[in-house]
Amino acid sequence: MKRKLEQLIFFILCFAMAATLSGCNGGKDPSAKTVGIVMPSKSIERWGRDGEYLRSLFTEEGYNVELRFSDDVLRQINDIQVLIADDVDILIVVPIDGGTLSRTLEDATIKNIPVISYDMLVLNTDAIDCYVSFDNYRVGALQGQYIVDALSPDETEDTFNIELVTGDPADNNARFFFGGAIDVLQPYIDSGKFIVPSGKTTFDQTATPGWSMDLAFKNMQNTLASYYSDGKRLDAVMCSNDGLGLGVLNAVQSDYLGGNTPVITGQDGDTAALQSIRDGKLSMTVYKDVRNEADVTVSVATAILEGKALDESLIGELPAECVFDTESYDNGVKKVPSFLLVPEVIDSDNVDSLLKNR
Ligand code: BGC
Repeated sequence: MKRKLEQLIFFILCFAMAATLSGCNGGKDPSAKTVGIVMPSKSIERWGRDGEYLRSLFTEEGYNVELRFSDDVLRQINDIQVLIADDVDILIVVPIDGGTLSRTLEDATIKNIPVISYDMLVLNTDAIDCYVSFDNYRVGALQGQYIVDALSPDETEDTFNIELVTGDPADNNARFFFGGAIDVLQPYIDSGKFIVPSGKTTFDQTATPGWSMDLAFKNMQNTLASYYSDGKRLDAVMCSNDGLGLGVLNAVQSDYLGGNTPVITGQDGDTAALQSIRDGKLSMTVYKDVRNEADVTVSVATAILEGKALDESLIGELPAECVFDTESYDNGVKKVPSFLLVPEVIDSDNVDSLLKNR
């Protein structure tokens, strides 16, 4: 009898210990879990920032983190293969080229490793569980609207010359940025209020492979030489991110003959872009607080590891304002459930106040 009682007490103690260990994470102890994070090259400022935020936030929550920055597509495929072979518990992936990872991620599916597509969408695979990003269409719409507000075409008989410079065709986001911007600008182009002297008004005509700042610089030099050498005034250039905006700005500073400073847009709030806004050169940037994006990603990853459903009900638990969208992001295989954060405009009016406490 006494022996039976001892066995029972032992059993209850074991049960209580197991419950305590697992209680803080819905049945799983984060410290036993490893998160694999794969980012593009650090040569684009924001990926260095995103990677380090994600690493520190996951670490604070008690996860082990394996973080890799890959300079090119083949390296990225290899990095993901290594993380899968290491049996990470969840993968966070920012694809360099959205269409190149389907085969590699099949191995994640085989091993039941969930995958979050972070910021850029991974295409042509059902291996990803969800997408965490900013509202990319809105980013472009903010850039287009900034140009309209700055030039006020509705309040004058004047017409304005504008150009468009957008991002990498391998990045699904680039089409969303362009789509948001052109939806605002197109009515003015159609009505003749905005003229595009280069004639380049489609995504393909205005794309910049690799989001290359150098290429944006050279392309703008060519545009200025070909269409503005007669002294034509350039009023605005819609650039999809800061690197492109700064490349275009350099070309304008060296090769533009007009006396005005054109409105030039950006995105990301890179250090050089913020300085340029303070100096009165770049007009604006669309700021995406990557700490919020990282914060939301940690919450979503934890929800996945706890076996929670990825649906609208999660929104209330997320640490930053988000929209849950199940329609907009079709990756070619499925409509990917998406958590989309809200971007903000920064220009010379709010550059210091908005960033004060961030
Ligand atoms: C990101 C932007 C970034 C661009 C170039 C996009 O997918 O959303 O923030 O500027 O890639 O890296």
